[in-house]
Amino acid sequence: MGSVAGVQELCLGANVFGWTADRDSSFAVLDAFVDAGGSMIDTADSYMWRAPGNSGGESETILGEWMAARGNRDRIVLATKVGSLPDRKGLSGDNIAAAARDSLRRLRTDRIDLYWAHRDDPDTAQEETLDAFDALVRDGSVRAIGASNFSADRIRSALEISSRDSLTAFTAVQPHYNLMERDEFETVLAPLIESEQLACFPYYALAKGFLTGKYRPGGAATDSPRAEGARAYLDSRGQAVLAGLDEIAAGHEVPVASVALAWLAAQPAITAPIASARTTDQLGEILPMRTLALTDDERRLLAYLSATS
Ligand SMILES: NC(=O)c1ccc[n+]([C@@H]2O[C@H](COP(=O)([O-])OP(=O)(O)OC[C@H]3O[C@@H](n4cnc5c(N)ncnc54)[C@H](OP(=O)(O)O)[C@@H]3O)[C@@H](O)[C@H]2O)c1
Repeated sequence: MGSVAGVQELCLGANVFGWTADRDSSFAVLDAFVDAGGSMIDTADSYMWRAPGNSGGESETILGEWMAARGNRDRIVLATKVGSLPDRKGLSGDNIAAAARDSLRRLRTDRIDLYWAHRDDPDTAQEETLDAFDALVRDGSVRAIGASNFSADRIRSALEISSRDSLTAFTAVQPHYNLMERDEFETVLAPLIESEQLACFPYYALAKGFLTGKYRPGGAATDSPRAEGARAYLDSRGQAVLAGLDEIAAGHEVPVASVALAWLAAQPAITAPIASARTTDQLGEILPMRTLALTDDERRLLAYLSATS
């Protein structure tokens, strides 16, 4: 991912495409993202098999159609994942090879820039998984590999195997981390990421929409499939975080969502947060994070308000 001086990168989450965003809305969000200078997009073969009428691969298909229509594949840093689609579950060697072929076909491309293991697979030897990823890197269909939802111990053992067997190593991690979910990342994963110099792209950067400020006590219902998960944060800690975000957003004259993302982007060990938008209006509230620099006091206030103990 190229970086521009003074700009904090955002990785655009693609799980909305073919789910809460139809093809036209998806194209509009993607166009607006690249027009604003964005380049990295995070999808998965499993997005979004759970949605009614879907079977998986819908997000990759829309992305493939959009890149073909715009002729912009070379401008995009394309990340997808293997391991969570019910028909292609796990990280066995055969499954990774087959899933990569499927993803490349749907994405209409000859390469995946960053290929994620979507979640750990304790039933497959890590040697087998890393062999399969290494073969994809050697044949040019994958540029780099990463581990999502892995424990620190399993990242460490994978790195040891890659080093011992001269196999392509994980160079990126994708954990669940945001202002409302800090403990495990900050205490266990961040030290490993820093010592191993891994890239880190936290997902649910907006806590499923909670950190946009649209969920408030007594607030109106939304049609979002994320609403239940987001509303669960609306306890006294969540309300304190929203009050802090409101105050800082007003001071900078920017939307609340961009403050939450700017805080995350400025945390140690973070390369770029991953967040999604189902409309260009939503994206418009997120993008100011790219140039929003919070003061030390503002970052400390949000850390204080969101601390669990
Ligand atoms: N590795 C993994 O296991 C894993 C797991 C989950 C996600 N991810 C990745 O992370 C990405 C982000 O996750 P996510 O999209 O589920 O959660 P998120 O980024 O925390 O929340 C994004 C959602 O918040 C709402 N939103 C965004 N901007 C808004 C605004 N300005 N105003 C009001 N609402 C707004 C939208 O949902 P609504 O309009 O529906 O409310 C949007 O889809 C995914 O696309 C995926 O790439 C990875």
